[in-house]
Amino acid sequence: MGRTTRRGRCERVRIDTQTRTLGVIGWPVEHSLSPAMHNAALREMGLNWAYLAFAVEPERVAEAVAAVRGLGLVGLNVTIPHKQAVAGLMDELDDAASALGAVNTIVRSEDRLIGFNTDGPGFLRSLQERGHTVEGRRVAIIGAGGAARSVAYATARAGAASIDLLNRTAEKAEAVARLAQEKGTARRVNTSGLEGERAREAVSSADVVVDCTSVGMYPNVNEGPVVPGQWLRPGQVVVDLTYNPRETTLLRAALEQGAEVVDGTGMLVHQGAISLLHWSGREAPVEVMREALLAALAR
Ligand code: ATR
Repeated sequence: MGRTTRRGRCERVRIDTQTRTLGVIGWPVEHSLSPAMHNAALREMGLNWAYLAFAVEPERVAEAVAAVRGLGLVGLNVTIPHKQAVAGLMDELDDAASALGAVNTIVRSEDRLIGFNTDGPGFLRSLQERGHTVEGRRVAIIGAGGAARSVAYATARAGAASIDLLNRTAEKAEAVARLAQEKGTARRVNTSGLEGERAREAVSSADVVVDCTSVGMYPNVNEGPVVPGQWLRPGQVVVDLTYNPRETTLLRAALEQGAEVVDGTGMLVHQGAISLLHWSGREAPVEVMREALLAALAR
C-alpha cells in the first residue's frame, strides 16, 4: 500500500484506530487492479480508509457479506464469480443491479446493505469523457456475457436509436436482447452471430461498436480481431472492454481503418470512481485513479 512519489519516496498509508476498511471480494482476486486505483484515490481525497483485496471462496460469499455488517466495513466491490450471488444477499438493489441480477458494489448504510451495479454507468462515462454518447446512436455490442449485459442495459436505458447484439452463441445474444428490449427505449434491437452479411451490416452501420468478449485478452493477445477489421470505418467509435493489453487486435484494426478507439481502462476507472462516489458521497479523482491503474498495469 505504498506510493512512490516523484522524489522516489514511498508514502505509507497511515493505519490507526480510526481507519475504516473497504475492499473487493473475488475468487481469484490477487490480480485485481482495484486496490491500487482506490487507495490512490483515498489518499488524494484525504480519507483515512484502507481498500483491501479479499479472496473469498464461492461457498463463503454469504459469510463475507455478513462481515460487511459485522465488521462495519464501508462497503465492498464484488468481482467474478460473486456478482450474481451477492445480488441475492442485499436489502436493496439499484435499478441496474436489479435488472442484471448482478452487483459490483455493496454500500453499507447503518445495518442495510445496498447493491449497485456501476459497470454500465462506468461504460457510459468512458464514452462521455471522450465526447461521445450512445443517445440516438446505432450501437453494435459484441458478446453476451456479464460485461455485455451491463453495457446493453446501460445503452438501452440511455436511449440508443438501435442496438445490435452479436455473439458466437446465438441463444445468449437473444437473452441479452430481451433485457435491452424490456428495459430500454431503443427503437430496434436485433441479434446475429459473428459471421455473415447481417453481422457485417450491423458492425459497418454502427456509430459505436463495443467488444465485450474476451477475444484478444492476455495471454491470448494475438487472437482476433473478433470481427474482420474491414467492417470498421472512419467516423466510428470502437470500444474494447479488455484493458490488458490496452491495444487489442480489434483496436489495432480499428485504428488501421481510421476509426476512433477507446480501450478498457476507461470503463474500469469510471466504474471504480462511481463506486467511490456511492461510498463517500464525493466525486472521485478520476485522473489520479487512472494514473494508478496504468502504473499497476505496467508492473
Ligand atoms: P464476462 O462476464 O467478462 O462478460 P463471459 O461471461 O465469460 O465474460 O463472456 C465472454 C464472452 O466472450 C461471451 O460472449 C463469449 O461468447 P459465447 O457466448 O459464444 O461463449 C465470448 N467469447 C469468448 N471467447 C470467444 C471466441 N474465441 N470467439 C468469439 N467469442 C468469444
